[in-house]
Amino acid sequence: MERELTLEFVRVTEAAALAAAPWMGKGDKEGADQAAVDAMRAVFDTVNIKGTVVIGEGEKDEAPMLYTGECVGCGESIELDIAVDPVEGTTLVAKGLPNSLAVVAAAPKGNLLNAPDMYMEKVATGPDAKGAIDLDASPTENLKSVAEAKGKKVTDMTVILLDRDRHREIIKEVREAGARIKLISDGDVAGAIATALEHTGVDMLIGTGGAPEGVLTAAALKCLGGDMQARLAPRNQAETEKALAMGIEDIEQIFGVEDLVQGDDAMFSVTGITNGELLRGVQYYGGERAETHSIVMRSKTGTVRNIKAQHKIKQKPNYFQNGIRKSKEGVNN
Ligand code: FBP
Repeated sequence: MERELTLEFVRVTEAAALAAAPWMGKGDKEGADQAAVDAMRAVFDTVNIKGTVVIGEGEKDEAPMLYTGECVGCGESIELDIAVDPVEGTTLVAKGLPNSLAVVAAAPKGNLLNAPDMYMEKVATGPDAKGAIDLDASPTENLKSVAEAKGKKVTDMTVILLDRDRHREIIKEVREAGARIKLISDGDVAGAIATALEHTGVDMLIGTGGAPEGVLTAAALKCLGGDMQARLAPRNQAETEKALAMGIEDIEQIFGVEDLVQGDDAMFSVTGITNGELLRGVQYYGGERAETHSIVMRSKTGTVRNIKAQHKIKQKPNYFQNGIRKSKEGVNN
């Protein structure tokens, strides 16, 4: 992939974040997602690639844009697989909670796993514990081996998990092992990336989240040198059949980073929507200007760029159009 594309992908996630940010706290996750999808799709149209969405907003009949299989980009020559999550953490935006992100990953055609939209078991960690995780091992065993690789005590380890009933047993075991826990309400992409960034203090992610999010996570961890193991977790026969129909040969297969994102040429771009540990969200500073914070990375070189950008916004967010505050009903007050 041409390295110039990195900036193009940042423009894509910036556009999605700028479109979603005005929806913060509005209690409308679909509205936030739709705005981000529209914006992301429009910017893709200006990028000189021939992209195929392999991780998108769903099937063609349920998603008018960025559906799985859709072609994006205005070019003909550079054929890429594209994975998108215009709003990773739609509920986070709707509630104004931290860590919602706009995310895109790309790799040469055929290199991203075409993961079905279902659950996936995951364990992830950063570069200093690469090779120390095993999805088939117990949480206690993983804790011990990651702690050893990091030269830490288990009691100094922090594990991040989605706060879900299905994780009750894992949470219990991690607590019994003496490690610390960080429960998140949503957003396991940010959670997994945190394991590869020392300043977050997070050592390991365990638990079941979305499979599409798993592929996006693997792209980021590949660029950051982190590690991940994952396995599809279909809830019924229909989901199993769906996975098989999408080309997954062995439903029990444990996928490593290399299976989820093949080759050494992945790109990952992420822009903050709401403020978070990984990134600041979109900031509005009067004068119709907004600021975005993004990270873009390439696996080929291992370069990780932090990009702060100022944007002129055409329309002010919320109900403050034309400088007059309007209520939802349209009455000025
Ligand atoms: P959305 O952005 O689609 O709302 O997903 C947020 C998320 O928390 C993901 O980060 C995670 O992988 C998945 O949902 C977990 O699913 P569930 O909420 O069903 O447990």
